[in-house]
Amino acid sequence: MLKVVLSAIEREDAKENLWIVGAEVGRFLHYLVRVWRPNSIVEIGTSVGYSALWMASALSESGHLWTIESHKERFERAKTNINKAKMNNKITQILHHAPEVFYDKEVNLPKTVDLVFFDATKKQHYQFYEAVKPSMQKGGLIIVDNVDSHSTAFAGFIDFMIENPRLNTVKINIGTGLLLATINS
Ligand SMILES: C[S@@+](CC[C@H](N)C(=O)[O-])C[C@H]1O[C@@H](n2cnc3c(N)ncnc32)[C@H](O)[C@@H]1O
Repeated sequence: MLKVVLSAIEREDAKENLWIVGAEVGRFLHYLVRVWRPNSIVEIGTSVGYSALWMASALSESGHLWTIESHKERFERAKTNINKAKMNNKITQILHHAPEVFYDKEVNLPKTVDLVFFDATKKQHYQFYEAVKPSMQKGGLIIVDNVDSHSTAFAGFIDFMIENPRLNTVKINIGTGLLLATINS
């Protein structure tokens, strides 16, 4: 059922722009989760659930994914897709706005975040990073999408990540460009 849902989202994306990562990046994220074995993933930017489904379907038995979306209609469509794919036991959806969601005491995000995926507005990445940093430990992985397609908007943030002595950073040329950063101290 998962594959059927993913293919349906790809077809919808071809008709209307849902800004999904696409199959190549989806498979790569799935692979990363398989080998990295994070227990807790937080995604900022659910859209209709495509990348969340790719990642959550690679989690180990104890792993879980929290995904944040501020647009109500896309949040509801994601819920339908996640239910159809029978992945609702692995994914918690949060209808909220980042970075504020990280400071909202009513929201139960995990205390420790092993992997965070930034795939929302391109204007608030410093704030996303500052908000999630206290929950991340040595070995944690930060993935940023669209670093090639939005290289101008991102220029300062990419330099900040690459030059950050706390991080080991690599840029990968797939999809619209991914930046991977592991926390080394
Ligand atoms: C690029 S799409 C996410 C695509 C999704 N990760 C996928 O590949 O299937 C970005 C989504 O982030 C949402 N968004 C943008 N800024 C946000 C913010 N600050 N907080 C929460 N959601 C946000 C948008 O409404 C949009 O649906």
